[in-house]
Amino acid sequence: MNYTGLIFLARPVKGVQLINLQTVSSVVTPWAEQEVPEVPSQRALITGATGLLGRAVYKEFRANGWHTLGCAFRRARPNHLTLDICNPSAVRRLLQEFKPHVVVHCAAERRPDVVENNPQRSYNLNVAASATLAHETAEVGGFMIYISSNYVFDGKSPPYGPHSQPHPLNAYGRSKLDGENAVLHALPGAAVLRLPLLYGEVNELEESGVTVIFDRIQHANKSASLDDWQRRQPTHTQDVAFVLRQMADHWMQDKSFCGIYHWASCEMMTKYEIGCAMADAFNLPSSHLRAVTEEPTGHVQRPRDATLDFSALELLGIGQHTPLRIGLRKALWPFLDDRRWRQMVFH
Ligand SMILES: NC(=O)c1ccc[n+]([C@@H]2O[C@H](COP(=O)([O-])OP(=O)(O)OC[C@H]3O[C@@H](n4cnc5c(N)ncnc54)[C@H](OP(=O)(O)O)[C@@H]3O)[C@@H](O)[C@H]2O)c1
Repeated sequence: MNYTGLIFLARPVKGVQLINLQTVSSVVTPWAEQEVPEVPSQRALITGATGLLGRAVYKEFRANGWHTLGCAFRRARPNHLTLDICNPSAVRRLLQEFKPHVVVHCAAERRPDVVENNPQRSYNLNVAASATLAHETAEVGGFMIYISSNYVFDGKSPPYGPHSQPHPLNAYGRSKLDGENAVLHALPGAAVLRLPLLYGEVNELEESGVTVIFDRIQHANKSASLDDWQRRQPTHTQDVAFVLRQMADHWMQDKSFCGIYHWASCEMMTKYEIGCAMADAFNLPSSHLRAVTEEPTGHVQRPRDATLDFSALELLGIGQHTPLRIGLRKALWPFLDDRRWRQMVFH
């Protein structure tokens, strides 16, 4: 791990204007004789800052008055701090030095098949590392938001409220539920935010369970079978990031804010219906799409309808919903085959 210069992030050191890690490392000496700095009053640590959700969360906090430090692992460089969150002493050092007010914990193994095949590695990341992070956040008096999933439910009696009985059907869901419990045990003042299927700005289509089908929608000369059994709430990462930032702001005003919450889109649909919406959003044909109504037969069982009820956050005035077709256009236009479309509609 490399976090040279981090020591300046939370301690008042002469002349250091705290913007980001790179700035800090490069300006410490030249500015050393200047005025005493201000320690930023709102510090947020985002784990998994290179991931699908973490990228949106990092941007949202940075753009809205938070001194934000992102950390990640394989893709951390050059914008973020490299930190293996499975290394407890490294996590401790970072928390002690940065002293975040808020930690948004997005790092996880979120692919159900991978969790099924690598249970120990996934447990270390989704459960043990989350517990360590919560413990160290408690030590510095911070607030932590643990990102969880609607896969903690079995999908048999929707909709699910924050206090509905969890009953995960697969190892991923169990690891997220164990992570929730471990976090709330180590830091009872933490919050858990459960989310459904996510999509948003992607570097490659395979990054999201929504965007991954786009090539099959575009290639109308080949028939494409899409699941029409499992009901989803495809939710835009920018909406989630906005909600997380509102939750952090809320905690800054009211330190008793904690507990389990849900956020999701208002639109419920199957993958087949998402495919039809995608075709519609880009004025593409959808006659090559085939609805598969039988339960999928893979070795990982999935909840049929784990619809989340998100009214508790709305009652607090927290929330944002991007309509699916608008969100799909925003996320997918860079991947359009038809360049004329790109220019005509989006520029
Ligand atoms: N995606 C969904 O549809 C969905 C749905 C519901 C809930 N969720 C939850 O939302 C959260 C974010 O998911 P996502 O889709 O953004 O995941 P993702 O795109 O797979 O990103 C995972 C992040 O975790 C980081 N990471 C992995 N191992 C690490 C380690 N040992 N130390 C530090 N960082 C590590 C990765 O960093 P590097 O890549 O740099 O290594 C990456 O930034 C997860 O808690 C997931 O369970 C996701």
